[in-house]
Amino acid sequence: MSDPITVPKAELHCHIEGAAPPTLVKSLAEQYSIDVSSVLDGNGKYIWSDFTTFLKAYDVASSVFKTPADYSLLSEAYFRMLAAEGAIYGEIFISPDHAQAAGLSYRSYVEGLAAGIERAKTDTAIEGRMIAIGVRHFGSASVERVAKEVIGNPHPMVTGFGLAGDERSGHPANFSKAFRMASDAGLGTTAHAGEFGGPESIIAALEFLRVKRIGHGVRAIEDKELVKRLVDEQIVLEVCPGSNISLGVYSVLRFHPLNMLRREGVKITLNSDDPPFFGTTLGKEYVSVSETFGWSLEDQVEITQTAIEAAFCDDATKNRLLVRLDSVLQNPGTS
Ligand code: ADE
Ligand code: ZN
Repeated sequence: MSDPITVPKAELHCHIEGAAPPTLVKSLAEQYSIDVSSVLDGNGKYIWSDFTTFLKAYDVASSVFKTPADYSLLSEAYFRMLAAEGAIYGEIFISPDHAQAAGLSYRSYVEGLAAGIERAKTDTAIEGRMIAIGVRHFGSASVERVAKEVIGNPHPMVTGFGLAGDERSGHPANFSKAFRMASDAGLGTTAHAGEFGGPESIIAALEFLRVKRIGHGVRAIEDKELVKRLVDEQIVLEVCPGSNISLGVYSVLRFHPLNMLRREGVKITLNSDDPPFFGTTLGKEYVSVSETFGWSLEDQVEITQTAIEAAFCDDATKNRLLVRLDSVLQNPGTS
């Protein structure tokens, strides 16, 4: 097994609020006198038991981030941690609805996050972008509001638009207007589907949202025709194995379909989703998947290359990252 640090990594699917270290949530909660005891236990671990209670815990954890400085602390810590694991690129999902609920305007939310990403980049050279998400279970009006806000306040680091939240609520057709607006504005688009919904949910996201990337998408394995379509249309799956195991989508990693999907020719990437909630990190995902499915260094590098090629950043940045990926491989230990 190759040294995990020497494998250059890239991440496309991580919710920044879901990446909040429990210690940071606890200290901000104390500072603002917010009670987070329902979602953080005495050992500093998040408390949840299923997808619904996970989403609620995520809401409570998000509520302690009240200022741009709070958010810059969070993004800086996250990107530094990613870089320390060998990542050269990361996209984070940002949730303007959660920032607004905590009293922050969209602009100050994005500026705070951007400042933290820039600080991490100065020291580690990691490159970062943001994908603003609408929350599916908040309904189509709220998702359209997010799309309008993102388009009306362009920021060079906000390069994508996405749909997260409870896939069991609301049909993708309800969100097609928001996605059309986002694509027309030049944003890359992605939607969570095929996590708690079956293949039909993925098909509906492709049809109604016209996305080229799918968050999770792993339940495509249940429909041979759909797998063929993903291959033919070169749809990229943002696979989050540790999240799927923690949330009970699959019982153990060995039964996860990611390797079968890859062998069928589907483009897949590895991601941590909401790392401290699921006891994972991007580095752990690369290691556990590689150990379970016997992946070589070349297999892992191909995953990173797929992520960079599918990234929502400009071509010049992609090319620089691909050169960097290559140079790390030529000179291991110099990332
Ligand atoms: N928001 C944060 N994590 C999520 C997940 N795994 N699925 C859907 N929405 C989310
Ligand atoms: Zn997600």
